[in-house]
Amino acid sequence: AEAQEVTKIGLILPMTGQSASTGRQIEAAAKLYIAQKGATVAGRRIELLVRDDTGAADITRRIAQELIVNEKVAVLAGFGLTPLAFAAAPLATQSKTPMVVMAAATSAITEQSPFIVRTSFTLPQATQPIADWASQNGIKKVISLVTDYAPGIDAERAFKERFTKAGGELLAELRVPLRNPDFAPFLQRVADAKPDALFVFVPSGIGGQFVKQFIERGLDKAGVRLIGTGDVTDDDLLNDMGDAILGVVTSHHYSAAHPSPENKAFVQAFRAANPNMRPNFMAIGGYDGMHLIYEALKKAGGAADGTALLGAMQGMSWVSPRGPVTIEARTRDITQNIYVRRVEKVDGQLYNVEFATFEAVPDPIKGR
Ligand code: DHB
Repeated sequence: AEAQEVTKIGLILPMTGQSASTGRQIEAAAKLYIAQKGATVAGRRIELLVRDDTGAADITRRIAQELIVNEKVAVLAGFGLTPLAFAAAPLATQSKTPMVVMAAATSAITEQSPFIVRTSFTLPQATQPIADWASQNGIKKVISLVTDYAPGIDAERAFKERFTKAGGELLAELRVPLRNPDFAPFLQRVADAKPDALFVFVPSGIGGQFVKQFIERGLDKAGVRLIGTGDVTDDDLLNDMGDAILGVVTSHHYSAAHPSPENKAFVQAFRAANPNMRPNFMAIGGYDGMHLIYEALKKAGGAADGTALLGAMQGMSWVSPRGPVTIEARTRDITQNIYVRRVEKVDGQLYNVEFATFEAVPDPIKGR
């Protein structure tokens, strides 16, 4: 018998370093997808090559080059942080290799290469609903605090524009370093100014440290409401934050508590395969990214070139565990529901419980 032909997918993730939880979540979700759907697609055997870039952009770039030239991957995927996606984008363009961004969330990423598609989210997309919720719920004066790099700036701008347009006041815009952040001096400024709320964006994996310092400073008891995108109440960390986090309202595209049959099945299977983990919004980006790759291979054929595969991805819609999603043909970005959620206890565990839905939200910067 002939040996089965192989289609290689290069999955580049931060498996070590400050963003290791992003890599761990996405790898687990991608492997779950393959285990559920089988390792043969369009007559070819799928081989997943997982590589650790440690969160350093020069390493992402070197690995992407090696996967394209030596391994001849059909697709590049992963990209745990915005600078890592930016670093690989020119290589996707030069080699005409589809690049599926499963994590990084700055709006401008999809504009760095015509071969980029995204299954995560964008910060402006996730931010507008919490700005609307705040202005409709008696919050008048806010301070924003974001991690000082591209997705944080996206969140800060989107919040400011939306909230002030509705009549709200932004008292200060604070930016905290990405590497080894110390929130204390920033939180002291917030304590002194006593806004109605603090809007926060920190990347996945940092929320635990932030919330600990917020509580240590007594800001929860001082009447400063904590609001933000759902990155801060990340499902990977939420249950260890303690009851002081109860009642915090955020907006995001995914909660492990999303009450659909598709999500219940996803969470159950993820936990069965990874007993000590709860899937977070990074996991869903990885799971849906694998779905997009599988469906594109089925549609374009196992031997399709990069341009044909990309074309098959553009315009694709499906029902994800997060809800209905579309990869817009023009922007190659994801349109999806954004949910407003409140931290509550469910069966003794802390969850982001959704209570309002903004349906089919595109990235507001690029539109449909
Ligand atoms: C990015 C990383 C994150 O962990 C996150 O939660 C949002 C955005 C980024 O670097 O794009």
